[in-house]
Parts: sequence; C-alpha cells; structure tokens
Amino acid sequence: MLTKLHKIDYIDSIIAQVNAMDFDFKRKTLNYTDGNILSGDYKILPELENTPIGNFLTELGDIGEARLLVLESGETYTAHTDPDDRLHLVISTNPDCYLIDLDKLHMYHLPVDGHIWNMDTGVRHVACNFGGKPRVHLNVRHKLPKFNKPGWDIKVSGGNFDWKQELYDGIMSHINYSIKNKVITGFEKVNERQVYVNCSMEEYMNLTTMIAKKGFVVTGNPLI
Ligand SMILES: [Fe+2]
Repeated sequence: MLTKLHKIDYIDSIIAQVNAMDFDFKRKTLNYTDGNILSGDYKILPELENTPIGNFLTELGDIGEARLLVLESGETYTAHTDPDDRLHLVISTNPDCYLIDLDKLHMYHLPVDGHIWNMDTGVRHVACNFGGKPRVHLNVRHKLPKFNKPGWDIKVSGGNFDWKQELYDGIMSHINYSIKNKVITGFEKVNERQVYVNCSMEEYMNLTTMIAKKGFVVTGNPLI
C-alpha cells in the first residue's frame, strides 16, 4: 500500500513553517484550482510561494490538491478506498500513529524523516492516532485525468445506511484501478453523489451494476 519515494533535506524548515501557522484547523488546503477538485490544475496559495512548503509543492510538479491533515489523539476514520492515490510527508507524529492496510492487515508507522511516501488508496485503508499528541501529514492528491464530453453522468441516490462509507468502500477502489489501467480516461466529482466518467459502455455497465449491488439507486445518462 505504501512505497517510499525520495527524501527531502529541508523537512526541518517545513516543520518550522507549519508550527508557525495557526493550528486551529483540522485540514488546511495549501493550493487552489478553478477546475474540478480531482482533476483541476492547481496553483500554490500566494502566501506560500517561495516558502519551504511552496517550494516542496513546486518540486512535486503537476499535482492535485495539497493539504495539511491533522489527526487528533484517539481519532480514526472508517474503512475506505479513494479514487486518487496520495503522497504523504510526515510533519509530526507519535509512535502510536498508523496508516493501516485493511486488505493485508498491515500497520505502517511513518516517521518524521523527510521521506515522501506514495500511498495506493485503492487498497482498503484507514488512518488512526492511538497516541496522545496530534499527528500532522502533508497530504497531496495525484491529479486525475480530466473529464471531456462525450461521457457518462452517473447519479447515486437512496441507500438507507452510511452511504458515503458504502460508496467509498470498494467502488472507489474499482475507480482508482480503472483510472490507473486507463479503462476510465476522465473523471470528475460533481458532488458526493454524482460523477462524470469517460469510459466504454462495458465499463459504464460494470460500474453502475456494482453501485446498484450496494443497494443504491443509480441513474446514468450520456453527456454529449
Ligand atoms: Fe483515504
């Protein structure tokens, strides 16, 4: 689930910059787009240009949304998958913070050592902080391919349960790998229950059948 990439030699200056920020946040977005959240072109916030964080994001190249994510003591998520893989840089942690691969039941503790980690988020996973101090990761989304007409407009309704959890557990994994395998060639999240997708009729049927099997009502229309 996690692959160690290269190491940066200025992690201390990034940590100092984060520590100087107002820490009254759970999530702090570091760049912005005029386009779609998952496939838009991102620019670094003006106040971060020519700073350690800004330089780090510039060096990463053509990235998606970048955020500082705080996980408080005792906090965790529910099991899920995501459509977009993520890069992680650890800003602060404690020995009881983990990213957990729920398919292989493997727990990863990432230290503060300047390494960038690539996370395959098509794997069912969760992040948790069982320790006493907050955990802060700089988390960067891989940018997904842009949607272009013609394609499919897929809307999901119904689901008398935690519908977001159900959608993100399995369906997003399928989308993640279909994008990497170029079966899906464009993807746009319109809202939590609507996406635009470029794919074949076969993949469209595959995807909508999977969603319907989860107990949702799916409506799909071609976008011309
Ligand atoms: Fe995730």
